Amino acid sequence: MAKKLPDWFVEGYGNIWLPYAQMQTADDALPVVATDGVTIELSDGRQLIDGIASWWTACHGYNNPVMQEKIISQVRNMSHVMLGGLVHEGAATLAKRLADLLPGDLNHVFFSESGSVSVEIALKMAVQYWSNLGEEGHHRFVCFQSGYHGDTTAAMSVGGNASGMHKAFSGFLQQQFLRPLPETPEEILEFGAFLAENKDQIAGVIMEPLVQGAGGMKFHGAETLAAISAQCQKQDVLLILDEIFTGFGRTGTMFACEQAGITPDIICLGKALTAGTVAMAATVATDRVYGAFLSDDPDKAFMHGPTYMANPLACAAANASLDIFRDEPVLERVKHIEGHLNQSLEQFRTLPGVVDVRVKGAVGVIQMEKIEDLARLRTEFANEGVWIRPFGDIIYLTPSFSMQSHELAALTQAIDKVLNRLN
Ligand SMILES: Cc1ncc(COP(=O)(O)O)c(C=O)c1O
Repeated sequence: MAKKLPDWFVEGYGNIWLPYAQMQTADDALPVVATDGVTIELSDGRQLIDGIASWWTACHGYNNPVMQEKIISQVRNMSHVMLGGLVHEGAATLAKRLADLLPGDLNHVFFSESGSVSVEIALKMAVQYWSNLGEEGHHRFVCFQSGYHGDTTAAMSVGGNASGMHKAFSGFLQQQFLRPLPETPEEILEFGAFLAENKDQIAGVIMEPLVQGAGGMKFHGAETLAAISAQCQKQDVLLILDEIFTGFGRTGTMFACEQAGITPDIICLGKALTAGTVAMAATVATDRVYGAFLSDDPDKAFMHGPTYMANPLACAAANASLDIFRDEPVLERVKHIEGHLNQSLEQFRTLPGVVDVRVKGAVGVIQMEKIEDLARLRTEFANEGVWIRPFGDIIYLTPSFSMQSHELAALTQAIDKVLNRLN
């Protein structure tokens, strides 16, 4: 007999508006009562192995004791204090640690509370950078097809899927220079020529390095990233890298841009910054970008200030996560997961309906020709004891880095069963 839904679900569910969901027809969300390690516990007692680490955040697993201890002791001392005119130890320590970890002279950390907002901040920074230098008219961004940078207004405008998830807003959004991601030497040259021709209007180029996540988990090589960066430098166009998904080990190095040996002008961080605990993001600028805001003129100050920026609980969480990266072989774990995914996903390549299988770091993707019924697939995965949320035409895994081999095997066994049932 099916277990009774909890009272809080029956009473409150109707008042929740869920993300990306057609509320009239969507299946009810599953009631969660606890998390632990790599599992999500449902109110009916089922334990789901989480294959996507809560939208790529919980990189050290759930309820990590190091994280918990630091967050709890921070709650006891100070949960929040505004950053305007005041500063606290957690923020200063975190800013210094991020600057030390990031490549080059990405030294100036502007905190916010979500990835989309950190992108808005990066875009505003780039626009005001040019204006502060007295170069007016740099108001448009170059962005790439299949890119995704969040759901706020300017972030949507630089997304590469205007006719897809954000199509209701197409008439409302600023028109950007949306282009195919250049990969071949000819395309790179053409891209450089495009920058040269339009650079008086361009405030910057924005892209997700190595993996375009929410746009379909599409990969490109480090040499492509290096070549795009080189063209930006040649044409003196700012490069903004959105590492909200790729940052903190996901692609095998602490930051994806390290693999291309490049330093962007501005970088956006979020998601795994606090390892799936407290909401936080950051936009980090180089000395050059920051320098353009220094002046005797108050109008040249950067005009942005989220209420909860550098929230002390979030800073404690991010510092605790960086302690784990420092003290434990986290990148080795990513390498192990990469090896496991490479081996175990390969078996799906020859299944009917599968057009590609690809792995980078702790990202594994099974590209289907088409997924007819996403909702059914998601339910089938839950029924197999795993939390895997396919979207578009892909089934993907982005597990916590703490996931063990037998848990990874459980994920691939569930995929095997569900895919074979579909065929
Ligand atoms: C690359 C990238 N940028 C920005 C965002 C938006 O972040 P948030 O959902 O925290 O606003 C996401 C979220 O998936 C993302 O993957």
